[in-house]
Amino acid sequence: MKANTPPDLRTTIAGVPVRDLADQFGTPTYVYDAATIVERIKDLKPFDAIRYAQKANSNIAVLDLVRRHGVLVDAVSAGEIGRALAAGYKPEGEPHPIVYTADIFDRESLDLVVEKGLHVNCGSPDMIDQYGERVPGGSITLRINPGFGHGHSQKTNTGGESSKHGIWHDQVDDCIARAAKHGLKISGLHMHIGSGTDLEHLSQVCGAMERTARVFASTLDTISAGGGLPTPYRPNDGRVDIGAYFQLWDATRKRLEAVAGRPIRLEIEPGRYLVAESGYLVSEVRAVKRMGGNTFYLVDAGFNNLARPILYGAYHPMSIAPADGATDRPRVSAAVGGPLCESGDIFTQDEGGYVCTRDLPEAKVGDHLIIECAGAYGFAMGSNYNSKPLAAEVLIHDGKPHLARRRQTLEDLIRGESIPKLD
Ligand code: LLP
Repeated sequence: MKANTPPDLRTTIAGVPVRDLADQFGTPTYVYDAATIVERIKDLKPFDAIRYAQKANSNIAVLDLVRRHGVLVDAVSAGEIGRALAAGYKPEGEPHPIVYTADIFDRESLDLVVEKGLHVNCGSPDMIDQYGERVPGGSITLRINPGFGHGHSQKTNTGGESSKHGIWHDQVDDCIARAAKHGLKISGLHMHIGSGTDLEHLSQVCGAMERTARVFASTLDTISAGGGLPTPYRPNDGRVDIGAYFQLWDATRKRLEAVAGRPIRLEIEPGRYLVAESGYLVSEVRAVKRMGGNTFYLVDAGFNNLARPILYGAYHPMSIAPADGATDRPRVSAAVGGPLCESGDIFTQDEGGYVCTRDLPEAKVGDHLIIECAGAYGFAMGSNYNSKPLAAEVLIHDGKPHLARRRQTLEDLIRGESIPKLD
């Protein structure tokens, strides 16, 4: 790339030409750069344990990668437990390799947790009884809702009384009584106030944790700061000061250790922070059209592939890989949309569904348009809407692309469906 090539004209991803990736794997395809994930893991090493919230990206190749770098895993469903096991996580160990954190046990996940001996982090008082009946004398952790929350969108705020998440902070006595009834030990506390929040709000959690944890000091061996770390999506977004964040939690942990008289493990539970920046959704431009005063680039990826813009008005950086290898293109103010038969299938929109435009290089049919910072809550929230197959996923390691998931086929789409015999 020439020195003066604008950053939104991209020729390679993790050292591999975009054109080669598209030729080999087709489009739309999610491409993940393993080195970026490893880099983000290193940032969080001051914490005693990093527990990856796999809901952000649960491809087993990604789970295997983070496991090899010493990262533990969180699971919210029987399916996520199955993925963790398939990626080589052991069910039991100290610290717990897999923790089931949810607000309910569906019957399948309760059976699986009991069968595999997994640790559970209860987000509702009812879970304590349901678990205690099956595993009397066991040990659990509690997810506490501290009474406040914050996220990048109201839809990702998981604290306060409008949230369904966690155990309300003033119900701990009730929880202690429920646990005691079944002989359960409460070995840890966890708070997660929202996703994509900021340091100011995250810091308030330390005080809330300390207040609640003092009540449990006699049995506590773990506290978890939850996830929620923001990731830089916009050009001027800075990176969060992990050092300062750790200091706050470390000081909280040390005060609790003084009360408890024993070491307390400090966990963090990031999803987005580890994987968002590693991910690129590679699409092909299939139409460029004018609607009144607006130019639209229509690509072959839609909200079936990346739902964050339609759900939250989320901003993702974008770049163009010109098919002709051009290193300069005129600038165009364009809206970017997908193939779905739905007006909201637009990647450039504000919360509320208002279509906006983006200053981008001119795009031509056959160019590739890359939606960046898409490694978290991208593929994982994909759907088969409009009977679109789920995209392929590729993990690049040391310049070598590995097909981590093949694109779905028509057979995959109709698997399990059947037509009744009517005559
Ligand atoms: N721990 C718990 C209990 C969670 O519920 C979540 C996210 C995390 C950790 C990880 O949060 P993170 O570090 O990724 O912020 N679909 C939304 C995000 C929903 C997050 C749900 N829970 C989005 O695309 O922004």
